[in-house]
Amino acid sequence: MENKMKNTVATFKKAKQEGQKLSMLTAYDYSTASLMNAAGIHGILVGDSLGNVILGYEDTISVTMEDMIHHGAAVARGAKNALVVVDMPFMSYQTSVYDAVVNAGRLMKEGRANAVKLEGGQEVVPQVKAIVDAGIPVMGHLGLTPQSINAFGGFKVQGKDEAAAQKILDDARALTEAGVFAMVLECVPAVLAEKITAAVDVPTIGIGAGAGCDGQILVYQDMLGMFSDFTPKFVKRYADIGTAMKEAFKAYIEEVGEGTFPTEKQSYTMANEVIEKLY
Ligand code: KIV
Repeated sequence: MENKMKNTVATFKKAKQEGQKLSMLTAYDYSTASLMNAAGIHGILVGDSLGNVILGYEDTISVTMEDMIHHGAAVARGAKNALVVVDMPFMSYQTSVYDAVVNAGRLMKEGRANAVKLEGGQEVVPQVKAIVDAGIPVMGHLGLTPQSINAFGGFKVQGKDEAAAQKILDDARALTEAGVFAMVLECVPAVLAEKITAAVDVPTIGIGAGAGCDGQILVYQDMLGMFSDFTPKFVKRYADIGTAMKEAFKAYIEEVGEGTFPTEKQSYTMANEVIEKLY
């Protein structure tokens, strides 16, 4: 369904109350954000997954504030109606409450975010409270939190045993209490995500968390078949743009090689008498 209004944190809250599912995708540049916006997406996340899919890192650890600001501002220019959430990169909020507020403020002022997202549960509650108190909406992120990949020891489903599942549920309640307007649940069993969704009054946005969440998010290169370094089980491919791009690149290379591109159609003309005067 096309969505012409500017989506805000209030839209997200209302969607949960009315049982309307929220759609989100990641984006990192103006033209992709404009296309998603025209398609009617509710929210765009400028994810620190840009470390993987844009910058070619193995993880998100090296992503900087400058990276997030640069890509956030580009997305914000294209996302006229979508809510723009920008990720707080690794070590921009874990170090102190002060750092968290200053860096969230930079993502809003310089990155033109409508909200910020950070990873973690009870351990980041003081940061969440302080950022929210500064008038900045915060999205939480629980389950598989990629900035803690070294602590997890790999990309694995989270919350499978009782203690781990209870911790994620407690974290979801603590984040809600701290004032998040929504939270991402990544790579958790569908039944756990459903229980969390019923336990909190803010929307849950799932990625690898089943259909019971209030909304869904995917990394756009994954859903378009543009990134093949690693494809998690939860990804559904909606198009094979990667193959279409490779075919177009090959056709271009061939035509340039043969001299069949450009033709007159793609060339500019000038008066003969002018060219003839040149020596
Ligand atoms: O960085 C990101 O793209 C994310 C999504 C996977 C939720 O955090």
